[in-house]
Amino acid sequence: INQGNGVKGLSELGLKALPKPYIQPESERMCMSKIIPQDKESIPIIDLSNPADPTVAKAVCDAAEKWGFFQIVNHAVPIEVLERIQEATHRFYGLPAEEKNKYSKENSGTINVRFGTSFSPKAEKSLEWKDFLSLFYVSEEETAKYWPPACRDQVLEYMRSSEVVIKQLLQILMSGLNVKEIDETKKSLLMGSVRTNLNYYPICPNPELTVGVGRHSDVSTLTILLQDDIGGLYVKGNEGEDSWIHVPPIKGSLVINVGDALQILSNGRYRSVEHRVVANGTKNRISVPIFVNPRPNDIIGPLPEVLESGEKPIYKNVVYSDYVRHFFRKAHEWQEDRCIC
Ligand code: SIN
Ligand code: FE2
Repeated sequence: INQGNGVKGLSELGLKALPKPYIQPESERMCMSKIIPQDKESIPIIDLSNPADPTVAKAVCDAAEKWGFFQIVNHAVPIEVLERIQEATHRFYGLPAEEKNKYSKENSGTINVRFGTSFSPKAEKSLEWKDFLSLFYVSEEETAKYWPPACRDQVLEYMRSSEVVIKQLLQILMSGLNVKEIDETKKSLLMGSVRTNLNYYPICPNPELTVGVGRHSDVSTLTILLQDDIGGLYVKGNEGEDSWIHVPPIKGSLVINVGDALQILSNGRYRSVEHRVVANGTKNRISVPIFVNPRPNDIIGPLPEVLESGEKPIYKNVVYSDYVRHFFRKAHEWQEDRCIC
C-alpha cells in the first residue's frame, strides 16, 4: 500500500511502532534536558518594516553574529503569499502516490526537480521521518515544463516575493562587513542560485526514537524558512555544549539563518549554526525553506573587504559545488535535497 508514498504513506498506515530503519542512535535523538527554556535564551525577533533604520541593521548583524538565526516580522512578503504556498504544499502532498512519483529521482524529467523521501529499504543509515519536494530554479521554461502544477505558481510567487527581503537582508549584512555595493560578482556569490523545498513531516508513532531532520548546518548563504504553527525546529544555543533553543512559530514570520557559504564569505563573522527538527506524535508539520546560494561554479572565500583591515583569512578559497559535495554529502549521503546539481 505504501509503495512510493513516502514517509507520509507509512504514517497513514497507522503503525503502532516506528519501523526499525527510522530508529536513530541515542546520540542523534533530542532529549528534553538539552532544551533551554524560552525565558532563558531565545533567538531574536526583528521588525523589518523599516529596513533602512540603522537600529534594525544592527539587530540583523548582531543576530547573524551571535545566533546565526533570527525571525523577521512585518517583512515585505504578504501574508496571502505565505498562505498560498502553505496551501500548495498541502495540495502537493495530498496528491495520490503515483502523481507525486512523477517527480521522483527515477521519473522526474530534470535533475532540478526531485520528490524524495527517506523511505529506502537499501539505506544503511538511520532514516529521517520526512518527505520533501526540492525545486531548483533554472528558467521559466523549465518551471512550466517540469514543476508540479499543484504548487508551481505558488512556489514561484513565494520565491519572487521573498527576493525583496533577501536583498534587504544581504544589503544589511554586507554593510556590516564594509561591503559598500553588491555588484554583479557579489550578487552571484550571495544569491546566484535559489532552491525551494516543500517539507512534510508526518505524524510519527514513536517521535522520541527518531528525528524529522538530524542536526546539520545549511550550505547556503542565507536560508529563508516558512514554518507552520506546529513547531519543532531547534537551534543550537550559546549555553553549554549541547543545548538547543526552540524556534517558536509566529504567524506571518519568516525564520532566517546564515549558511556555511556566508560564514566563509564573512571570514567567520556571521555564523552558520546547527539546527534540527524533532518528529511529532500527533500532528503533521510542513515547512518551506528557500535556500539562497552562490552559483555552483563560483569560488567562495573570505571577501576582500573583510580582510582589508589586516584580518587573516581563516578559510581557503573553494569552488562552491566542491564544497557542497565534500563537506556536506559525506555526512548526509542520501539527503539529496541538499545537493547542488
Ligand atoms: C531544515 O533545516 O532542514 C528544515 C527546517 C524545518 O523544517 O523547520
Ligand atoms: Fe537546515
